[in-house]
Amino acid sequence: MPRPLRLGVLVSGSGSNLQAILDACAARRIPAEVAVVICNVPDARALQRARDARVPTVVLPHHEHARREDYDSRVVAELRARGVELVCLAGFMRIVTPVLLSAFPQRVINIHPSLLPAFPGMHGVRQAFRAGVRVSGCTVHFVDVGTDSGPILIQAAVPVLDGDTEETLAARVLAQEHRIYPRAIQLIAEGRVQIDGRRVRIADGRPDAASTIASPPVEDP
Ligand code: GRF
Repeated sequence: MPRPLRLGVLVSGSGSNLQAILDACAARRIPAEVAVVICNVPDARALQRARDARVPTVVLPHHEHARREDYDSRVVAELRARGVELVCLAGFMRIVTPVLLSAFPQRVINIHPSLLPAFPGMHGVRQAFRAGVRVSGCTVHFVDVGTDSGPILIQAAVPVLDGDTEETLAARVLAQEHRIYPRAIQLIAEGRVQIDGRRVRIADGRPDAASTIASPPVEDP
């Protein structure tokens, strides 16, 4: 196994994606380790998850910084102090600035609960549900200066069922987030990911051209 890639995970809320990453690292399913968890919300559940995993935490309440850039400078300093090599936004409810992006070029990734580029921004699941899509899902993408607009690394699709509410759909999407986020980190940690304009090339990605989701299902003859 290669030397573990040092991750900095930025969170604001429940931290279930953080948990999926911590679990994958602890079980050595991915060649990575969480070097620090940075949180802008002092009582976020994510912080307790990090402490339970004995991972260093930094609480940086955003209202203590007048400008976003000043906030990001603090974040960069904390990440650098711990030798972070890949920054993972995991339910981090802040827009990041070029201060962070230029400190970690092509090394900031985010998870979003829709099949981007559809339904960026807040409430991705709600937007998809209200739009009446029959297939939705989640995306891990590289972060650029736009909102959920950077090159796409991995996606998982889920069908929208007739009995779904926004909440049941969100739960099914979230379960897929917990699968694809560790996988995205694994692919980067193994050095298999290359950004080529808008496209992300993945060496030996084992594509399965036959696997499809139709919703409702289609019985093939
Ligand atoms: C996830 O739905 C993620 O896609 C979005 O925020 C939510 C975070 O959930 N960016 P959690 O804090 O990881 O449980």
